[in-house]
Amino acid sequence: MKNLALMFLLFFIVSSLKAEDGHKLWLRNQNPKPVKIICSKQSATLDIAQQELKRGWQGTPGASIVLNIRNNKSIKGDGFILDTSMIQANTEIGILYGVFDLLRRQGTGESIDHIVSNPSYELRLLNHWDNLNGTIERGYAGRSIFWHNGKDSLKVTEKDKILWQEYARANASIGINGAVLNNVNASPQMMTEEILKRVKAIADVLRPYGIKTYLSINFSSPAVLGGLKTSDPFNSEVIKWWEAKVKEIYSLIPDFGGFLVKANSEGQPGPQDFGRTHADGANMLADALEPYGGIVMWRAFVYSPTSDDRAKQAYAEFMPLDGKFRDNVIIQVKNGPVDFQPREPFNPLFGAMKKTAIMPELQITQEYLGQSIHLVFLSTMWEEFLNSDTYQQGEGSTVARCTDGSIYHHKYTAIAGVSNIGLDTNWTGHHFAQANWYAFGRLAWDNKLSSNDIAEEWIKLTFSNQSGISDKNNIDWQVFFLYPVKQMMLQSRETAVNYMMPLGLHHIFAANHHYGPGPWWGPKNVRPDWTPPYYHQADTNGIGFDRTRNGSNAVSQYHEPLSSQYNDLNTCPEVYLLWFHHLPWDYKVQPKADQPLAEKSGRTLWEAICYHYENGLQQVREYQKLWDKEKPYIDEQRFSEVQSKLRRQCRDAQIWKDGCLLYFQQFSRQTIPYDIERPIYNLDELEKMDMSKI
Ligand code: GCU
Repeated sequence: MKNLALMFLLFFIVSSLKAEDGHKLWLRNQNPKPVKIICSKQSATLDIAQQELKRGWQGTPGASIVLNIRNNKSIKGDGFILDTSMIQANTEIGILYGVFDLLRRQGTGESIDHIVSNPSYELRLLNHWDNLNGTIERGYAGRSIFWHNGKDSLKVTEKDKILWQEYARANASIGINGAVLNNVNASPQMMTEEILKRVKAIADVLRPYGIKTYLSINFSSPAVLGGLKTSDPFNSEVIKWWEAKVKEIYSLIPDFGGFLVKANSEGQPGPQDFGRTHADGANMLADALEPYGGIVMWRAFVYSPTSDDRAKQAYAEFMPLDGKFRDNVIIQVKNGPVDFQPREPFNPLFGAMKKTAIMPELQITQEYLGQSIHLVFLSTMWEEFLNSDTYQQGEGSTVARCTDGSIYHHKYTAIAGVSNIGLDTNWTGHHFAQANWYAFGRLAWDNKLSSNDIAEEWIKLTFSNQSGISDKNNIDWQVFFLYPVKQMMLQSRETAVNYMMPLGLHHIFAANHHYGPGPWWGPKNVRPDWTPPYYHQADTNGIGFDRTRNGSNAVSQYHEPLSSQYNDLNTCPEVYLLWFHHLPWDYKVQPKADQPLAEKSGRTLWEAICYHYENGLQQVREYQKLWDKEKPYIDEQRFSEVQSKLRRQCRDAQIWKDGCLLYFQQFSRQTIPYDIERPIYNLDELEKMDMSKI
């Protein structure tokens, strides 16, 4: 009998550990206590709010909580006020956000004492780069949760609906309130009736969670789909076509959010094909959407093969159009001027366009940061970006303040993140990539949050209460799990910069897959701005892209004093050195006191590069050791899956280091400092290797 009981217990433990596949994300709701809820209204959203409270209440057992929809001047938009026994909001969705915040605070042990919480951005969106055939551009966590391939692919199943609901719940728990359901490289088919019907089904599931549905459109749709002779935004038939299409969409989805547009970018059609401007194209769509309250998010991700510096193009094309856009158009700008690199200075359009609403586009999917293999917590990168001072309206004009309505007042404020979600059981491929989804939502809600706090919250919610051992109140768990894992997360982005592209290097990836190194890759038949040598400019004289006043003069796009600061070698932050300067290999790197990353002074540029690559690799080795020590604190499945990914990250950091150092050494013609581990790969091997496939 005793044995039988033991067997049962063992079976229970094993099966509960096995179930830790990460699907529950940060929403674990273990052992809820009873709670009394007082809510005088009823609606789908309020029902969810009540269910969530019952599912997750960790406060005093049997306590009462009042859900109160009542206007209060200190509450903005969907914000809320929180007390131990009351949640007050102006809107129903505000109540749901309050519920999730309350449960989060109970889960992390934070105080719940008259909290007033208002969103930094009104629109907080995920952009899904999902194709209608179910593949995801730059997706590393399986296929699309919205679109499938093959026969019956448009049939809406119960399985679909359950997944969409789980997705909506996770988003609502962190304040995300919009989803663009398809790739920016949009198929015209998106606008067909049968596809729009599926969009309606998705929108119906997302709605009670406060999530509006948006679509990416293909600018040539009137011609390709509608059979018109042109898609010229000034053509009256084209205008009518879009008006009718918008009407059709709103008849299906009355709260449809609007369109996201990638136009005249990387081969996508756009108004310039007809001699019109971005503003002409955006305004035509904005006029069609305006009667229904819809918006246009028009992307500024443009560059051309003829430009002397890709980093200048967005500013050059969009600044002259400032003030020419309708007030329901928002220009969506990637954080950096090139393309989601491990580190870039902010795009100079932020703060510079004063009469036009601008929204940041961040990339949650780690296209250029190790995809779903490397452990890289992106929050620190976004924090660095949001806190960058543009100086546009004097000191303190941070990107955050230039975009959240604190400095410029526009009809809408918004922020978008390119999603890293797919059909993988754990949603994001890497368990730690869930933290990036979480961090995006939290920063979109409150752009003043610190990465430290976000990481701590996420770890507590995601990993605590595992079979009792890692109870969040357990000091042992805090000292040996929470703090070291948090430190690893907080350092991880800098680590990736070190072993991939230190000191301002950028876009030196192997062709197409953007995973491994490829500083050597530059076939004659490929346009130069799609090859790494265009960006690193290494030769026997030195390395780096000269964007100073003597070079491409990209520095002039920044406001003073930044422009001069970046231009001058003595004041240019070391982290952007080779972004703005082409320097000789024996240039003496002069670290500044306020730069935490600085290497010991007196190193030559070549030596500094070598040490950064080495440090990056060694840091990953440290993460491996750290993680192995965490075994007692975590379930077997998540432990071993992360362990295995760290092994691969370590190997690939070695490949990055060896590939880049051996390649650049051909130009520097100097030895790798002797206190650095020697390369273990040969350059010719690496040049032939496709790292995405091994
Ligand atoms: C990057 C990415 C593309 C994507 C593009 C965009 O270049 O590699 O896959 O389409 O960004 O943001 O439009």
